[in-house]
Amino acid sequence: MRPLLILLFALTTSALKAQPQANYDETKVPKFSVPDPLTTFGGETITDSLQWEEKRKLEIYQFFEKQIYGKVPALLDEYSFKVIEQDNNALDGKAQRKQIAVGLKKNDRSLNFNILLYLPIGNENAPVFLGYNFHGNHTVTDDPNVIITDVWNENSKDLQITDNKATETSRGLRTNRWAIDKMLDNGYGLATVYYGEIDPDKNDFSDGLHSLFYDEGQTKPKTNEWGSIAAWAFGLSRAMDYLENDTNISNVIVFGHSRLGKAALWAGATDPRFAGVISNNSGCGGAALSKRKYGETIGDINNSFPHWFSESFKKYSNREETLPVDQHQLLALIAPRPLYVASAIEDEWADPLGEFISAQYASKVYELYGKEGITLTDTHEVDHPILGTMAYHMRSGKHDVLEYDWDQYITWAETFAK
Ligand code: GCU
Repeated sequence: MRPLLILLFALTTSALKAQPQANYDETKVPKFSVPDPLTTFGGETITDSLQWEEKRKLEIYQFFEKQIYGKVPALLDEYSFKVIEQDNNALDGKAQRKQIAVGLKKNDRSLNFNILLYLPIGNENAPVFLGYNFHGNHTVTDDPNVIITDVWNENSKDLQITDNKATETSRGLRTNRWAIDKMLDNGYGLATVYYGEIDPDKNDFSDGLHSLFYDEGQTKPKTNEWGSIAAWAFGLSRAMDYLENDTNISNVIVFGHSRLGKAALWAGATDPRFAGVISNNSGCGGAALSKRKYGETIGDINNSFPHWFSESFKKYSNREETLPVDQHQLLALIAPRPLYVASAIEDEWADPLGEFISAQYASKVYELYGKEGITLTDTHEVDHPILGTMAYHMRSGKHDVLEYDWDQYITWAETFAK
């Protein structure tokens, strides 16, 4: 490359990383009114949980479904589960390992994905954390028997993935994000799936789950239909179809980090079988309030990831004030089930304060059921978790999943999952 081109390239990539146009100034957050979870679109006030369920929950749900994440177009024709590998003495005798092939069929087209499941030896009825991983099941553990995914993988220097294909070299390179030993020692299991096996994370609707549902000649979902986040949420529910029938599993808590935290929240809202939901640094389109326009905005996310949401969400790019809902109402859809929203103080792009406030505004609905929410007097003091039915922590440090996060999730899960 010639020097001028190198300079231009360097400027563009650093500009992309720094997102200089993003607002990180609290005084520049626009004044906005927070849509009240307890006032219907027609202006009626909701005073109890029955009214919430009958009148308000459905209209909010339908709004998120049609205008934000997008509708699942139809039912599958068939699905199947097959345990393709099992070891009752895995991870130095601490765990039973199963790898389950899930097959989904529609219109004579099919898609397969693998669940990696570890269950603790000695707990015949274990709660399980279910969460997607970013680069393949073999990255979350050093265990040499975990099958390496052969579907498209985003290249990654950290994970040593090139040519969009995972190989042996990436085995165990993400163990830092998965406290598997700690889960097992505390009597919890882990189920994980590589999210790319449901829908490869690129702006291309020709592959992945969406393509199974197309009519003749169709190349992408219709305007109000699902983007990738809704497809990933759907995949979590298909994993749940297997897990709920495993007699050694008591409860499933769905977990996700960042874009996968957005998917975990939508899965929690769409599927009441999840006993608890954890959003780790999910940010814009996840737990954070959109109307604050702090860090990543709807315009940014629709621009950088045009495939994540339904096409109809694009009309809210740079027009957050016209949205009749906000993300606290997504959180409220999970009530009264336990919900953990976790932020990191240096994760400015995800608007950590916006995630906290969102949890506060969702609390009204939890309170209708007599459950503890995050109250308006609660604070988001760094490294001081609040562990009620709604739980929250503002961790010190960056956008990531750390041992600290898992310590809190496990402590919190003890209060409801066993
Ligand atoms: C990008 C994106 C975020 C997302 C994150 C991630 O930063 O803008 O919305 O949460 O990727 O998934 O890591």
